[in-house]
This record gives sequence, C-alpha cells and structure tokens, in this order.
Amino acid sequence: MFDGIEYRGFSQATVEALATHSGVPVWNGLTDQWHPTQVLADVLTMEEEFGALEGLVLAYVGDGRNNVANSLMVGCAKLGMGCRIVAPESLHPEPELAAAVREIAAATGGSLLVTSSIEEGVAGAHALYADVWASMGEESLIAERIKLLKPYKITRRMMELTGRRDTIFLHCLPSFHNLDTEVAKQYPDIQEVEDAVFEGPQSRVFDQAENRLHTIKAVMVATAGR
Ligand code: NVA
Repeated sequence: MFDGIEYRGFSQATVEALATHSGVPVWNGLTDQWHPTQVLADVLTMEEEFGALEGLVLAYVGDGRNNVANSLMVGCAKLGMGCRIVAPESLHPEPELAAAVREIAAATGGSLLVTSSIEEGVAGAHALYADVWASMGEESLIAERIKLLKPYKITRRMMELTGRRDTIFLHCLPSFHNLDTEVAKQYPDIQEVEDAVFEGPQSRVFDQAENRLHTIKAVMVATAGR
C-alpha cells in the first residue's frame, strides 16, 4: 500500500527486516543503533554556518554509545570532518565501530578522537553537540546516567573551552534544557545542557531542526524519485 516507508522505531533488526521484505524504499528514521537522517540535518547546519565541511570539528559530548553518536561518527568520517566523542570511559563507542570509522576517515582526511577529557575533546571544536543522557527505552537508567554524565553537561564555560568564539551548539532534540517537563522536575540534574547555552546566541538548534525537513525531502528525492 505504500511507495516508501520511513521507520522510526526501536530495534535495528526490525528496520532491516522491513527493508528486506517490504519491496519499497525504507528509510531509517531512528533505531536503538543508528540515527542517520539526523546527521544530514546536522552537517547541513554546519555547512550553512561555516561553509565547506571538510576539516570542521564536531565534538559530541555525552552518551558516546547511542544512536546519534554512532551515526555522527560515520557521517563526519565520510565528509572529511573531525569527530570527537567526549564521554566517560564506560560510555565510549564500540571499539569495532570506532575502528571502522577510522578506516573511512583515513580515506577522506577526517579523524576520530574518543576521549574522557573534556578539555582535550572540545579544544578547537566548531560545534559542541548534546543529546539526552538516556535514550528512548533507557528510562530505567536515568539515575545512573546522571551520575556518570553530570560533569559532561554542556555549559557556557565548556563552550569557552573550545577556544573559538564562533563555536555553535547543536542538539538533535528533544532536550532537557530546563525544568519544564515532569521528568526534569523529578530529576533536576538530568539537564544535558544549560538553558543559557540552549537558548543562547551560539545555539543553532532550531535551524538544525528546520534542516530536518529539507534533508529528509532530499533523501526521498534521491532514493525514490525518478
Ligand atoms: N538518542 C536519542 C535521540 C532522540 C532523537 C534517543 O534515541 O532517544
């Protein structure tokens, strides 16, 4: 009944089964492992801000094993960008994925740095990127993640640590940047980013969100159009 399906669900195996059996284009709109369409909007936002993508450095700060971190690493490597994953050691990316990403980066001039050091990870970054600390389906891990990731909250001070005045802030949304939601009221330390950064002059989160529209349309034209 459908000419194409964008699947936003949970298990990566499900989207792969759908792609195998549906007989129509299937787009991965987010799984527990990957979030590829998000990255297209992210890099478009960086291109709009800085021009050519090659050589730009994006530092993702937070849960380095989640879907967004995984896809950012791959996307940056393919585009010749520098990607930093800044996370406590227990949330560093899978070593096999990091190795595969480094192989891609070697061919494009990109790079990958995985580090627990905030100073090292954000130095010189054109963009600092945050995501929620507990992804969909990980609600039971919230307290543990807050403990692990509290030092990695993106603050105005961390933005200054890049050493660049033009660093932008990106976020895939939704975000805990204030205490307006029930969950945030229950866990006041759940904020992965200071409201002053999220709402501040260096934030590009709403341009980034708008770019989801344009990039998704481009993906559909490129893969299903004639
Ligand atoms: N890592 C987040 C991304 C939300 C767009 C999640 O999976 O919930």
